[in-house]
Amino acid sequence: LPYFLAALAFGYLCGSIPFGLILTRAAGLGDVRQIGSGNIGATNVLRTGNKKLAAATLLLDALKGTVPVLIAWRWGPNLAVLAALGAFLGHLFPVWLGFRGGKGVATFIGVLIGLKIAAALIFAGLWLGIAFATRYSSLAALVASAVTPVVLWFMGEGQMAQLFVPLVVLLWWKHRENIRRLLRGTEGKIGQKG
Ligand code: G3P
Repeated sequence: LPYFLAALAFGYLCGSIPFGLILTRAAGLGDVRQIGSGNIGATNVLRTGNKKLAAATLLLDALKGTVPVLIAWRWGPNLAVLAALGAFLGHLFPVWLGFRGGKGVATFIGVLIGLKIAAALIFAGLWLGIAFATRYSSLAALVASAVTPVVLWFMGEGQMAQLFVPLVVLLWWKHRENIRRLLRGTEGKIGQKG
């Protein structure tokens, strides 16, 4: 049991580092939570107009999922799965920001890279395809995430597929404003300010 808790806590600590907020502040762009959607993720960092900073946010928010998973993996797949869960929860509900964190897309793919790279590639392909076709970052994430448990199940990863169901539910819940805007046709497109 202590190992299980340690993996969860270690994942949480990594996941709760709000890179989007740290990077935009360090770059002198102010508080990203005052911009656009108010989210701390890469999509919203892009609304500052700084593409490099958005790319760095995406990379670091993904890595903070991948790294704890790969470290925990040395003690077996169960601990890797718990580290993944911890990292995802850390990003969504960071104690440092009053539990008001991000929407989980980058960290979702980050933990998936650590757990099952083939499924992560499918996620990335779907995300890119939908994002290029529609210019909606949120829509791409909603579809790609929902497909992930099915993909994992087809790959024979039943246990991982089960873990990803609650992650998808949380990701969708965090995107509830985006879903509302998508339905109304008022969702912002990638790179659009505001
Ligand atoms: O990853 C977050 C993205 O799906 C939506 O971000 O800032 O448009 O709410 P945002």
